[in-house]
Amino acid sequence: MSREAKTSGLSDRPLGEQDGLIYSEYLQLNKLLCSQHMLSAEKNPRPAHDEHLFIITHQTYELWFKQILFELDSVRLKFSNNQGVCESNAMEIIRRLNRIVMILKLLVDQVMILETMTPLDFMEFRKFLSPASGFQSLQFRLIENKLGLKQEFRVKYNQNYSCVFDRDEEAMKQIIISEEEPSLLILIQKWLERTPGLELNGFDFWGKYKQTIMSMLEKQRKTAMEVETESEKLYLLSDFEKRKKIYESVFDLSIHNTLVQRGERRFSHKALQGAIMINFYRDEPQFSQRHQIITLLMDIDSLIAKWRYNHLLMVQRMIGTHSIGTGGSSGYQYLRSTLSDRYKIFLDLFNLSTFLLPRNLIPPINNLIKNNLSHINWEGTNNDDEENKEVINNIDSSTT
Ligand code: HEM
Repeated sequence: MSREAKTSGLSDRPLGEQDGLIYSEYLQLNKLLCSQHMLSAEKNPRPAHDEHLFIITHQTYELWFKQILFELDSVRLKFSNNQGVCESNAMEIIRRLNRIVMILKLLVDQVMILETMTPLDFMEFRKFLSPASGFQSLQFRLIENKLGLKQEFRVKYNQNYSCVFDRDEEAMKQIIISEEEPSLLILIQKWLERTPGLELNGFDFWGKYKQTIMSMLEKQRKTAMEVETESEKLYLLSDFEKRKKIYESVFDLSIHNTLVQRGERRFSHKALQGAIMINFYRDEPQFSQRHQIITLLMDIDSLIAKWRYNHLLMVQRMIGTHSIGTGGSSGYQYLRSTLSDRYKIFLDLFNLSTFLLPRNLIPPINNLIKNNLSHINWEGTNNDDEENKEVINNIDSSTT
């Protein structure tokens, strides 16, 4: 057995074929459980009891961040597969996204455990932490970047986040890769652009949708004009103008692109069309998995926002609103600014409801198109083994 294998508790033989492999060796508990080093025990005559909880809480977060990254990398790989996303891949993507959602739910609730610590208890050891801060969590930044949070959407102070890793070459390398590689947002955008039924020479969903909206608006305008009371007429006409403007923002490509530049929309125009279409036809077999995927993406965004909010409340409870963070930010004020829509990756999916139609107005998919859609099916093949190897290689190189 190699020296490395001995210390890690694993022999050179494959797992499961080893004599006497025991629980603690497999899980490397000797390393894991010896990694709670309480600074207050070193620097105070009496250790601060709650520092143990503080360390364990952060460590468990980091472990779950690692699992999220593992799942996220595998999902990105499935989407970036040149051959597209096949049906069995779609099931796997759904399962893994759902797993990320479950982990995030746990992380949102986990804040409560640390809140059993009182501000006074925290004060006993906070002074020893500086300048360490969650701001320096590499894995948290990698999650944000790999999901698709862009540098320019971060608030000013947060745009410096990579400076904290300056002296850590490996961390910087990972940050740069995570900024340059296609994020989940970009991959989802490409996938939405390929939504079957958008083809101009096929079902031409967008043409049909636009026609329906135009006649709906015209009907609204006519109804408003027929009202006799002047004040009510004015009210209805101004409502009509507002709705018209909203729809213009989705039909007029230049308005859409301006909104993208301003960070108020994320997807390309074509991808937005795909997302609207999937919402309408989610009950059709060809769209239900797609709909599940976009629902899970929104869940991920919502849960990260909920985590940010819960963390913010905890920070307010522990250090108030005027105390500088150990990482050097304005603390509460800085964290509050990260709650804005600019931090939502899949912002467009949240705003889709603005563009939906009542069920009875949705352009029907006739049988001919239905048959065509069933031939289109999910594209590509499933090469799970190759992808798994690649994700594991990535993880190995990032943890060595
Ligand atoms: C007593 C508990 C906590 C307090 C008082 C606290 C305080 C803060 C403060 C003030 C910041 C802003 C940066 C700075 O200037 O330091 C921050 C950022 C951060 N904290 Fe905490 N924190 C606590 C617990 C946690 C836990 C349990 C985690 C779990 C990993 C965590 C993760 C983070 C992350 C990821 C950031 C960066 C957020 C961003 O920049 O968007 N914090 N924290």
